[in-house]
Amino acid sequence: MAVFHFTMAWLAWLLCLLSLTAQATSLDRVCHQLQSQYSNLTTLAGNNTQYTALAEENWSQTAWGYPSCIVQPANAAQAQGIVRLVTEHQVPFAIRSGGHLPSPLGANINRGVLIDTSFLKTLDYDATNEVVTIGAGLRWRAVYTELEKYGRTAVGGRIMDVGVSGLLLGSGLSYLSDLYGLGCDNVVNFEVVIANGTLLNANATSNPDLFWALKGGANNFGIVTTFTVRTYPIGNVWGGIKIYGLDQLPDVLAALNTYQLVANKDPYANLMVQAATMNSSIGVLLNLVYLKPEASPAAFEPFYGIPPLKDMTTIQSFVDFMDGAVMPDIPRWDWHATSFQPSASLYSQIADIVVNSSVINELRTVNTATLVLGIQPISSSVVDAGVAAGGNALGLNAVNQTWLVLDIGWADATDDAKAHRLTGTLREQIEQTSVDAGRHVEYIFMNDASWDQDVIAHYGSQSLGQLRAVRDLYDPTRVFGRLVRGGFKLGT
Ligand SMILES: Cc1cc2nc3c(=O)[nH]c(=O)nc-3n(C[C@H](O)[C@H](O)[C@H](O)COP(=O)(O)OP(=O)(O)OC[C@H]3O[C@@H](n4cnc5c(N)ncnc54)[C@H](O)[C@@H]3O)c2cc1C
Ligand SMILES: *[C@@H]1O[C@H](CO)[C@@H](O)[C@H](O)[C@H]1NC(C)=O
Ligand SMILES: *[C@@H]1O[C@H](CO)[C@@H](O)[C@H](O)[C@H]1NC(C)=O
Ligand SMILES: *[C@@H]1O[C@H](CO)[C@@H](O)[C@H](O)[C@H]1NC(C)=O
Ligand SMILES: *[C@@H]1O[C@H](CO)[C@@H](O)[C@H](O)[C@H]1NC(C)=O
Ligand SMILES: *[C@@H]1O[C@H](CO)[C@@H](O)[C@H](O)[C@H]1NC(C)=O
Ligand SMILES: *[C@@H]1O[C@H](CO)[C@@H](O)[C@H](O)[C@H]1NC(C)=O
Ligand SMILES: *[C@@H]1O[C@H](CO)[C@@H](O)[C@H](O)[C@H]1NC(C)=O
Ligand SMILES: *[C@@H]1O[C@H](CO)[C@@H](O)[C@H](O)[C@H]1NC(C)=O
Repeated sequence: MAVFHFTMAWLAWLLCLLSLTAQATSLDRVCHQLQSQYSNLTTLAGNNTQYTALAEENWSQTAWGYPSCIVQPANAAQAQGIVRLVTEHQVPFAIRSGGHLPSPLGANINRGVLIDTSFLKTLDYDATNEVVTIGAGLRWRAVYTELEKYGRTAVGGRIMDVGVSGLLLGSGLSYLSDLYGLGCDNVVNFEVVIANGTLLNANATSNPDLFWALKGGANNFGIVTTFTVRTYPIGNVWGGIKIYGLDQLPDVLAALNTYQLVANKDPYANLMVQAATMNSSIGVLLNLVYLKPEASPAAFEPFYGIPPLKDMTTIQSFVDFMDGAVMPDIPRWDWHATSFQPSASLYSQIADIVVNSSVINELRTVNTATLVLGIQPISSSVVDAGVAAGGNALGLNAVNQTWLVLDIGWADATDDAKAHRLTGTLREQIEQTSVDAGRHVEYIFMNDASWDQDVIAHYGSQSLGQLRAVRDLYDPTRVFGRLVRGGFKLGT
């Protein structure tokens, strides 16, 4: 028996080695074929500035990876050819657009092919239909700047350097969402390369099941090459940042609760609270905007009684307002999301946790740790707008809710596990508090979630079942589940 087990173990080891070698060989072959087929679009692994710049694309160093090669298709036909090649040889690959997902290998890969969409730069405004077609490689800045020429904007990122693709495929929270829904609800067409290399349009009339699935389906269905999205008129707005002291956090959250639960919340008013709860020299940032050129509108009344340390609100263009966002220069990031229905007592308990929890003291042992509590009010109108637009895969309930995020920034790779674990513990404390208060909401906002939060399972069993059924139709061999390992997955 012992000999038999020994032999079996040896055989298993040999098979494993053989398959690893086979994979390495086919990976090598695929990279060289990409190099010969798309010579000026392919970068092979190596110690050179071009490779390093692409492998170590930021926003966060936690997203760096070292692929065997990086290929940057310049049009949909090339993206099709690349997908056919990697699936034919069954080599692992990753898909990256704006590169803003901080999850380790969420949009990157070690030993595999990285498909980077940066050269997909279509940007066509269609004035007749008031829609814009956006190449997958663009960032929101390019989109907003182009649309501004026409006095219009789109439902997209609040920070302009974020990629269009990841944001829309993960839902997309915008300052316009109370009015028009999430970013994905405003997509009218996805042009997408599916697993067998076919290029499809997914929209309300053509492949409508895939259209629905891509609204929250992340990278589980294909490589999107363009998004066509609705646009809306925009003029000057009133907005900017009001800064408060950290000791004012409970007052700001109390005001926020009143703002959120007022009988008829004005959908032109939008805001985000960010509190650096470990660093009182940063304090609390209230980023507010009224989407009309009207100073100090009634919608923000609950905040006006709290004296800010600094007030940068002014009437300005929407793009200038977004440009005023403060981006700390921190090398490594992780973030954790949870949702709840707000109440005054819940907000007060959350303020206590993020300032006084013993976990905060443990986090202080992480070099240069910066914790930012982000509070994002979501009106039930956001969910209604999504339903009106044909529905999405997110499984949201039409209740007034808050999407909370804990952003953790730090300096050293040696602290990665600790920063992740401690921030996760804080999130669990907040979650437990909202469960105890009977205010917990199951939905996890993908774009603020950490890599180990099972976002898609939280869409609910009905949505999950339907997503898997759509996957079986468009990707029966599960290429985007098996070969694309990074990102938020559907599971089996
Ligand atoms: C500073 C900052 C501000 C942010 N602000 C907002 C905000 O206001 N609203 C909001 O909703 N979110 C926001 N986010 C979150 C952001 O939307 C997500 O991190 C999103 O994943 C980033 O998209 P990306 O294209 O830049 O990312 P990437 O890292 O390139 O990709 C993210 C994921 O999408 C997949 N993917 C990328 N491109 C494609 C494609 N073409 N086809 C298929 N799959 C693809 C990748 O494989 C990966 O899993 C912000 C993030 C940062 C860092
Ligand atoms: C790659 O080379 C082709 C053919 O020479 C050229 O048309 C194309 O513009 C190049 N693409 C990039 C991104 O440099
Ligand atoms: C990469 O090249 C640089 C300059 O040639 C060299 O200093 C460095 O040690 C090299 N790094 C590795 C990992 O080989
Ligand atoms: C939907 O897809 C069909 C088929 O490709 C296409 O003809 C049509 O223009 C698309 N609709 C939109 C709104 O893009
Ligand atoms: C959410 O709040 C708005 C505005 O305050 C209110 O009109 C609406 O009825 C609330 N939605 C639900 C589902 O309670
Ligand atoms: C607090 O933030 C300020 C401003 O960004 C920074 O200079 C300082 O180093 C931070 N302090 C700590 C302890 O992180
Ligand atoms: C991102 O890139 C810029 C320049 O390209 C660099 O200055 C910055 O340090 C990088 N940030 C991170 C987090 O790596
Ligand atoms: C933190 O704890 C102190 C002491 O118990 C308390 O006075 C303070 O209000 C707490 N902070 C918050 C934000 O709740
Ligand atoms: C590719 O997959 C789609 C969806 O499963 C299918 O309709 C189509 O026939 C396939 N095309 C080829 C060439 O296999």
